[in-house]
Amino acid sequence: MSRAVVAQAYGGPEVLAVIDEPVRPPGPGEVLLEVRAAGVNPSDWKGYSGLWGTNPSRLPIRLGYEVAGVVLDVGSGVESPAVGDEVIAWPVTGGYAERVVVPARVVAPRPAGLSWAQSAGLLLAGSAAVHLLTATRVGADDVVLVHGASGGVGRLAVQLAALAGARVVATAGPASHDDLRQLGALPVAYGPGLLQRLRAVAAQTGPFTVALDTAGTDEALDASVALVADRGRIATIAGFDRGRELGVRLLGNGPGADPGDDVRDAARAHLARLADEGMLDVTVARTYPLDDAARAHEDSRSGHARGKLVLIP
Ligand SMILES: NC(=O)c1ccc[n+]([C@@H]2O[C@H](COP(=O)([O-])OP(=O)(O)OC[C@H]3O[C@@H](n4cnc5c(N)ncnc54)[C@H](OP(=O)(O)O)[C@@H]3O)[C@@H](O)[C@H]2O)c1
Repeated sequence: MSRAVVAQAYGGPEVLAVIDEPVRPPGPGEVLLEVRAAGVNPSDWKGYSGLWGTNPSRLPIRLGYEVAGVVLDVGSGVESPAVGDEVIAWPVTGGYAERVVVPARVVAPRPAGLSWAQSAGLLLAGSAAVHLLTATRVGADDVVLVHGASGGVGRLAVQLAALAGARVVATAGPASHDDLRQLGALPVAYGPGLLQRLRAVAAQTGPFTVALDTAGTDEALDASVALVADRGRIATIAGFDRGRELGVRLLGNGPGADPGDDVRDAARAHLARLADEGMLDVTVARTYPLDDAARAHEDSRSGHARGKLVLIP
């Protein structure tokens, strides 16, 4: 048996429950993992909030798209990973659990220098960050504006853009400005007057050539189109309605958006390797036991977690 967190209804974090469920053996092409840490993402609570529909046949909803853990068993046809390997996996279904069966193809080696909690927070946010940079063709000559830079995706987008050799300007609340300087960015506070502050920064850095939005606010997107000449080099993963009106790139799962499956799949091994080489850091803001998944979701819903939230079964 395995303890697992499910949403028993549509609503807020109060609909979450921890259940005992039988563990099935891995089928062909699958592996069974003992979960050491499960990453929390906004899509986890959005999925049962009603934002994406309230189809009763989907209940109960098993939660958790990314995990780090140890391989306990492998199904037929699986050559890698092997039993006993320490791995990370994304996308998975039902990662908020003690044990989970996942496709072998979504598994990558666990980066040696990261803790279990950091490892569990790398892939979902990291693959979205890689997609943002790839879609906008970030390179060494760019001045890149990252909105929501203190969040799970934003921190990785900042690091990846800096690694590409770009100059990075990062919007975030003041509490994270020192963190962002450490990651190689010039921080700017969001909120009233954002566009004027960014214009003042551009006077030092040169004009912005790319904008990556993970905040999803009209303010972020409106500032982006005012500052970046080419709307094909402005991308959002969070502000689809305003982004569509403005004609910028929409990335992820949503009407009219580019899911970027190939780019994100290829990012898995790339991210694991960069983290293994000590080139990428994952900030874990807080960890929780499975029983406190609702509290983790309340913290995620605040929008100001300042890093990854992670469940430790
Ligand atoms: N489409 C996709 O493929 C995809 C993939 C991953 C995530 N997402 C979405 O992307 C968004 C970010 O995900 P995440 O995991 O990075 O979330 P997160 O860790 O909760 O980060 C939220 C970020 O938003 C900032 N923020 C909060 N209120 C703001 C405001 N009023 N104005 C500007 N910035 C504000 C926060 O800054 P402070 O804390 O400094 O205030 C923080 O940097 C979520 O909506 C998520 O669902 C989409």
